[in-house]
Amino acid sequence: GAPVNADISKLQPGQMLTVEWRGKPVWIVRRTPEMLAALPKLDEELRDPASSESDQPQYCQNATRAVKEEYLVVVGVCTHLGCAPLYRPAIGSPDVGEDWQGGFFCPCHGSRFDLAGRVFKAVPAPTNLEIPPYHFVTDSIVRIG
Ligand code: FES
Repeated sequence: GAPVNADISKLQPGQMLTVEWRGKPVWIVRRTPEMLAALPKLDEELRDPASSESDQPQYCQNATRAVKEEYLVVVGVCTHLGCAPLYRPAIGSPDVGEDWQGGFFCPCHGSRFDLAGRVFKAVPAPTNLEIPPYHFVTDSIVRIG
């Protein structure tokens, strides 16, 4: 498949946009400082906090799984059986849990992922959400693929 460009110039902090790449949704989330601050605190609750068993380009195998930490770029397909997880950015989201710090929730079998796409323990999804290859063409254009 051909690369696709995403224009992120209008993406507000906390918002997500979706583009299609190779027939799959790719999500771009503009993470707030609060969202980023929550990530390291979750490590002990995660199955693969350092992403050593998960799928991402080498340049995204880091604490925020990103080229620029403000922007998460991730394939929106559950690593369990391929359902579409829901974006649940709010702390204490009612359908996920009071101690929820924001992330993605898969309605099919209840897998949960943080705002770096990292999977929690004790859910069916085996690995973190996939990070596609991407780079910034300019500050406002991300090219996926
Ligand atoms: Fe997402 Fe099963 S497909 S939890």
